[in-house]
Parts: sequence; C-alpha cells; structure tokens
Amino acid sequence: MIRTTFLSTGMRVPDRVVTNDDLASIMDTTDEWIRQRSGIEERRWVEEGEAGSDLGCAASEMALDRAGLEAADVDCIIVATLSPDHFFPGTGVFMQRKLGVSDVPCLDVRNQCSGFLYGLSVADAWIRVGQYRRVLLVGTEVHSTGLHRNDAGRDTAVLFGDGAGAVLLEGREVDESDETAAGLLSVHIHADGRHAEKLWVEVPGSKYDPLITHEHIDAGLTRPMMEGREVFKHATSRMPEAVREALDANGLTIDDIDLLIPHQANLRISQMVQRALGLTDDRVYNNIQRYGNTTAASIPIALHESLDEGRLSPGGLLCLTAFGSGFTWGSALIRW
Ligand code: ACO
Repeated sequence: MIRTTFLSTGMRVPDRVVTNDDLASIMDTTDEWIRQRSGIEERRWVEEGEAGSDLGCAASEMALDRAGLEAADVDCIIVATLSPDHFFPGTGVFMQRKLGVSDVPCLDVRNQCSGFLYGLSVADAWIRVGQYRRVLLVGTEVHSTGLHRNDAGRDTAVLFGDGAGAVLLEGREVDESDETAAGLLSVHIHADGRHAEKLWVEVPGSKYDPLITHEHIDAGLTRPMMEGREVFKHATSRMPEAVREALDANGLTIDDIDLLIPHQANLRISQMVQRALGLTDDRVYNNIQRYGNTTAASIPIALHESLDEGRLSPGGLLCLTAFGSGFTWGSALIRW
C-alpha cells in the first residue's frame, strides 16, 4: 500500500517583531492582559508589500532545500490560508509563479485554523490513490494587514500573527503489516456551520452588492469578530475529542503519543487540551509565545521548530490537532 510520508519541513516568519508593549503603545491593552489570557509575548508582522505568497514561497524553498529537491520535482501545490493575497485567484498560483514553476496544479484551502489538516487530508487522498506522488503543502497567513490595530479591534488584534510553514509529502510503498512504517496513519476532519458567525470576517463578501462599501468599513464589518468564550469552550472540547478519535481509529492510546502539536490558538487552550488528555509538558509543543496565532501556518511552523529542537525521534508517534473558525476541527496521527 502507498503511505504519505513527510520528507521535510520549512518555515518563514517576517523579520519585524511586535511585542505586547508595542501593541500597548497603539491600543488600549497591556502586556499583562495579553500574557495572562493568551500566553502570547510577541508576534511577527510583515513589512509593507510582503505578501502571504512571499512567506509561503520562502517556507517552501526551505523545505525543498532540506529534501534536496527543486520546485520542479513537486507534482502539486496545496496552500491553506484565510488571508489570501487577493480576493481571487488564490495564493497558490502566486506562490507557484514565485517558485519558478508552471503547469503544476495549485489548490487553495479555506478552512482557517484547520486549513493545514484539511489540506493534509486532500494531499493524503491524492497520494494514496496515486494521482500525485509529491505534494507541497503550505500554510501561510498575513493577519496584520486585516487586523484593526486600534481600541475597537484589540480583542483580536493582540492574538494573531503572520508567518508560513511548509511540508513536503511523498507517497512511499509500505508493507501493510509493518506497524513501524513511517508516515501518515490517518487524518480526521470535521465542521459545524451552525457556529460560522462566532469567528468570522463578514466583509468583503459577494453576498453584498457591491461587496464592500464605505458604510461597511465605518460599521467595522471588515474586522475579525470573535465570540471568544464560545471559541474557547468548543476548542477545548473538540481538540481532545479529535485526538481520541484518531487514536481509536488506529488502535492506539494516549500513552502511545510521543508529541502532540495543537494548533497554536491560545496557550490557555493548549494547556486545557493537554490537561484533558493527561499529557506531560515534554509531550506537547507550543510556540505561540513567540508568534501569536498564525492560523493555517501554526501547525507546520510548530512542526518545523519541534523537529529542529529534537522533540521527535524516528519511529515516534506525532499527533496534530486543530480547531478554528467555521467551526472546523480535526486531528492527524503520523508515525515519524
Ligand atoms: N486588552 C485589554 N483588555 C481587553 C482586550 C485587550 N486586548 N481585549 C478585550 N479586553 C477587555 C474586554 O473589553 C473586557 O472588558 P470589560 O470587562 O470592561 O467589558 C475584558 O477585557 C474581558 O473581556 P472578555 O472577552 O470577557 O475576556 P475573556 O476573559 O473572555 O478573554 C479571550 C478573552 C482571551 C479572547 C478569551 O475569550 C479566549 O481565550 N478565547 C479563545 C479565543 C481564542 O483564543 N481565539 C484564538 C483564535 S481562534 C482559534 O484559533 C481557534
């Protein structure tokens, strides 16, 4: 059987560091409030003109370099983002052009914080049926330009950051009975649209004619709106649930997990997920302190850094889980 394996990872965050104190100088907030509620100490913001496709391209080049491959060796590109460079076309084609390749399919995934897992699910299906052998999967976000960096937007402006992470996936033939064979064991994705407006950006939207007006802007409809407590409640129950689902599907238990990488939504959410699963600190990876919430990019960035820090050894069991706007959520299990 063909199994999806991880060849390499890459990441790129903008050079510009924005601390909590920097935010406190432009809106009514404090370092203490942000740290206490979210664990975030600083985040990165792009400089003017730096796009999500630039970050995604740089992360991809690092992953390609680490695998000893070139962009031309990739059969397909999947880009997960909620902050595309433009309304259309998707960020994938801009990234493909910057990577210097053409005639490679580019799929854009719009599943917010769960985007990386949704993209992984599609990549895995394509790889296992033999449609594509090598897939470049990227999560890239530029939040800073969409945040309302003022008192009215402070509830969300302090949480999100910019960045990109990439993984190179390749299908490999494995013996079905070999329980130690490296690769993706399964991905599990979910959605519940009843909660769509609990975390969303309403405008611009083609539902309106024209899709954006001065009145929309004046009413603040272009800023991310979040019912924070509802998000917190659902995130802390759905992620443990999805982890258990993945373990059950593979006949494994929580004791088998060597490393859990939760989507970096909020350190308090990650800590509650950790507690619900009974995992010790050495078995959970968090880096939201330095980057804030980078939505679709948070898992591949955390994966890249955790590997560089030697947190996962060959043969170890890696678990990924995410929850976000939609609501959407999911999990994946990978034998490293
Ligand atoms: N600085 C200072 N005060 C603030 C800020 C800020 N940046 N933002 C809001 N406040 C104020 C509010 O105005 C409110 O003031 P009031 O009591 O005078 O009305 C007070 O702080 C408390 O606001 P709440 O919204 O009730 O704060 P809460 O304790 O619920 O914490 C938070 C808010 C941190 C957003 C919390 O609800 C949470 O962690 N939710 C999870 C959401 C999350 O982390 N989302 C990440 C993105 S989604 C994802 O990736 C899954």
